[in-house]
Amino acid sequence: MVLEPNVLLSWVFLCIAATISSTLFFFRKKHHRFVSKKIQKKKKLPPGEMGLPWVGETMDFYKAQKSNRLFEDFVSPRIVKHGNIFKTKIMGSPTIVVNGAEANRLILSNEFSLVVSSWPSSSVQLMGRNCIMAKQGEKHRVLRGIVANSLSYNGLESIVPKLCDTVKFHLETEWQGKEEISLYRSAKALTFTVVFECLYGIKVELGMLEIFERVLEGVFAMPVEFPCSKFGRAKKARVEIETFLVGKVREKRREMEEDAEKPNTTLFSRLIEELIKGVITEEEVVDNMVLLVFAAHDTTSYAMAMTFRMLAQHPTCRDTLLQEHVRIKANKGGERLTVEDVKKMKYSWQVVRETMRLSPPIFGSFRKAVADIEYGGFTIPKGWKILWTTYGTHYNPEIFQDPVSFDPTRFDKPIQAYTYLPFGGGPRLCAGHQLAKISILVFLHFVVTHYDWSLVYPEETIIMDPLPFPSLGMPIKISPKES
Ligand code: HEM
Repeated sequence: MVLEPNVLLSWVFLCIAATISSTLFFFRKKHHRFVSKKIQKKKKLPPGEMGLPWVGETMDFYKAQKSNRLFEDFVSPRIVKHGNIFKTKIMGSPTIVVNGAEANRLILSNEFSLVVSSWPSSSVQLMGRNCIMAKQGEKHRVLRGIVANSLSYNGLESIVPKLCDTVKFHLETEWQGKEEISLYRSAKALTFTVVFECLYGIKVELGMLEIFERVLEGVFAMPVEFPCSKFGRAKKARVEIETFLVGKVREKRREMEEDAEKPNTTLFSRLIEELIKGVITEEEVVDNMVLLVFAAHDTTSYAMAMTFRMLAQHPTCRDTLLQEHVRIKANKGGERLTVEDVKKMKYSWQVVRETMRLSPPIFGSFRKAVADIEYGGFTIPKGWKILWTTYGTHYNPEIFQDPVSFDPTRFDKPIQAYTYLPFGGGPRLCAGHQLAKISILVFLHFVVTHYDWSLVYPEETIIMDPLPFPSLGMPIKISPKES
C-alpha cells in the first residue's frame, strides 16, 4: 500500500507522539492523577476515559470515522458505559460528548454566551478567517443577515426558475445518451454549478470544480504546508481561487457603481451592495463566497445520492414519490417549477428528511466552552471542546420509534425541538437549508419524471473522510422514460 505523504506524515507524527506519550504517561501518572483529583474536587467532570496523554482516544475516533461508524463504534459504546454525557480526548483536546435533546438545546442555543464554534486551523485558513463560520458576535450577525436573507424562501423565489434551467441543462449535457452515470459525482458537479451560477451569476469554467475540490480536500487535513501535502496543495488552490474571485468582485463592484439603477437579485450582488456601503470588506466577500461552496457541496450532494439509495431500497415509497411528481408535472403548462410547486412536494420532502435522519450529511460539530457549564450534575470546564451529534437523537428509540426503519410518514407529526438536527440549530443553524431543500427536490423532480434508474451496487459501502460519501460514487443505470 502506498501512503500519501500527508497521511504518512500524520502516522509518523502520531507514532512519535504515542511513544513520547506512553513514556510521559508512566512518569507523569502520579502527577496527572493528582491534577485530575484537584480538578475533580472543584468540578465534577462527566465520566469517561481520556486515553493516552496527548493522543487520548484519537485513534479510536479516526478508525470509527473512516468506516462511517462514528456513532456505532465510538459514541454509542461510551453512552452505554458512561451515559449520555461523557469525557474523552480527541486530537489533543479534552472533549465532552453530549447526546440528547436537552443537551443539544443547551449547546446549540447558547452559541456566543456559553460556547463558540470551533473549527480546525486548516479549515479556517482555507475557508478564510473572514467567513461566517469563523466569526462571532456582531460580525457574525451582520454576515449572517446578508447570507441567510438571500437564502430564505423569499430570497430564493427568483432563483427557482434558474435552478430548473441549471438542473435541466445538467441532465441534458451529463446524462443524455448515457447508460450509466455516477450519481454522487453528478450531484457534486450540479451543486457546485448551482452555487456559482444561481447564487453568484458566475459561469462555471472548465477545471474550476477541480480547483475547489483541491481546497476542500485540505479542509480537515493536518495543517502542514509542504508542496506535496494535502494542505499544501489546498493552500495553493485557495490562492488561485482568491485571485479569480477578487477579479470577479472588482468587476461586479464597478458594474454596480456605474449602473446603480439596475436591479440586482443574486446573493453576490447583495454582498457587493454591502461592500459598496462599507458594511463589509472585500476579504469578507471573497471568504464567504468560498465558504458557501464548501458548505453546500458535499452535504447537498450526499443527501441527494442517499435519497435515491433509500428510494431504490423502498419501492412503495418510490411509487408514492413518483406519483407526487407526475401530478405536479401534469398540472403545469411548462417544465419550469415555482416555489409553490416545490411546496407541493410534501411526501418527497418527508423522504429526504427521513434519509437525512438515518444518514445525516454532517455527523455533528465541535464547540468550545467559553465559561464553565453545569449540566446534568457535571461541569463542562471552560476551554474544553464539546461535540454534539445528530445521531444521539436521530437513533434514539424514545424519540424516533423503531429508529433504524425507513418511514417517511413519521414526519406527518411535528417533531420535538432539538431532536432532528441535520441542519444543526440555534444561531448557527444552516444558513442554506432552504436552498438545500429546493435543490434536492427540483433535482428529484427532473430525474424521476425523465428517467428510469436503478443502483448498480445496492449495498455500496459508505465511508467518511471526514464527511460521508459512497465509496464507488454511487453508479446508477439510467434510461429515458417513454414520454
Ligand atoms: C443537505 C445539505 C446541508 C446540510 C445537511 C447542512 C448542514 C449544516 C449544519 C449541520 C450546519 C451547522 C454546523 C454547526 O452547528 O457547527 C450548517 C451551517 C451552515 N451551512 Fe449548511 N448544510 C447543507 C447545505 C447548505 C447550503 C446549500 C448552504 C449554502 C449555500 C449552506 C450554508 C451554511 C452556512 C453558511 C452555515 C454556517 C452558519 C453559521 O455559522 O451561522 N449549507 N450546515
